[in-house]
Amino acid sequence: MRLSILKEMAMGETRVAATPDTVKKLTDLGHEVTIEAGAGIAAGYIDTAYEAAGAKLLKTPASVVKGADLILCVHLPAASKLPKGSTVLGLLDPFKLDAAPLNAKAITTLAMEFTPRISRAQSMDALSSQSNLGGYRAVIEGAQIYGRAMPMMMTAAGTVAPARVFVMGAGVAGLQAIATARRLGAIVTATDVRPAAKEQVASLGAKFIAVEDDEFAAAETAGGYAKFMSEEYQAKQAVLIAEHIAKQDIVVTTALIPGRPAPVLVSEEMIKTMRPGSVIVDMAVAQGGNCPLSEADQIVDVDGVKIAGFSNLPARLPADSSALYAKNLLAFLPLITAEDGALNLDTEDEIVTAMLLTRDGQTVNERLS
Ligand code: NAI
Repeated sequence: MRLSILKEMAMGETRVAATPDTVKKLTDLGHEVTIEAGAGIAAGYIDTAYEAAGAKLLKTPASVVKGADLILCVHLPAASKLPKGSTVLGLLDPFKLDAAPLNAKAITTLAMEFTPRISRAQSMDALSSQSNLGGYRAVIEGAQIYGRAMPMMMTAAGTVAPARVFVMGAGVAGLQAIATARRLGAIVTATDVRPAAKEQVASLGAKFIAVEDDEFAAAETAGGYAKFMSEEYQAKQAVLIAEHIAKQDIVVTTALIPGRPAPVLVSEEMIKTMRPGSVIVDMAVAQGGNCPLSEADQIVDVDGVKIAGFSNLPARLPADSSALYAKNLLAFLPLITAEDGALNLDTEDEIVTAMLLTRDGQTVNERLS
């Protein structure tokens, strides 16, 4: 089949959906690859490396996608840029998808966000690969904004106290944030509503803090995600967090619930109890934020407390995030490839059906109905 990769157009996006390494694997399999000139530059992958891997480099987006069977992307390109009847695979932000222009052109879309969390799909799980790097980067950014050192230091001139880091939401991003903060020498605590997180947090050497009632015991869905918690639970959680957060130096919030706005965990009143110089990194800012005062891609200062809302942390380490993402895409390809190498969606496969959003002019995903 013919696969095409465009330069990403979204503001601040530095990632690319294929690396020279994955292009080489695709061309070795007999596929034809076209890529827009400069598509990988922001991630450190240069045009000549793609060419050496067997890709055909083209200058205009229209020429890149002309005749494409499959378009690999990070974000969904505008429907006007896509050929009729083509297929697109990427992080398509499915809950915000505007399906009408895609269906009008009978474009098939497959969303990487909907990769089911089953072991067979682990190598394709882009949410995990990107969240892992995002969690790491959130701590690095937080440490950068924080005006003090992370580890304890005993010097002749006095002792520097270790930073206290509190990670809210101990999923993929949160666990990596914990591990990173620990490596930097901070004292780390973490919270989550899923009981499975408790042991994982402890295994990384952090202390787990949560309201552990009956609702907590049942907070994990079959898919491994958190449920939306009741108002009663949220109130109890807020009391516990309010006490704890006042003593923290860096708070990293990662809490998400698929298809819903992020839960509010850090209120304005809580921020007012924090010490000047402390930092909040809100990783959920693109989904509305865990902190109502955070703003996308801004550092908001509230009486000396800095609230950083990075909307795209994986784009801040694009070489690694692109490499892992491109491998996630590559791992998925066999599920939509016939023996002769042609594009062929196996709609009997639960992974393909879970990810399929639009097909033959219709929106076909039950999570979008
Ligand atoms: P996510 O990005 O949807 O959410 C981040 C974290 O926020 C989750 O741990 C969630 O429980 C937590 N959270 C939600 N509401 C909260 C609240 N009100 N207060 C505190 N925390 C809250 O989740 P993520 O990181 O994508 O994955 C969650 C879990 O899914 C993983 O920890 C793992 O158990 C499972 N998973 C399974 C995989 C597989 O089997 N292939 C792959 C990746 C993850």
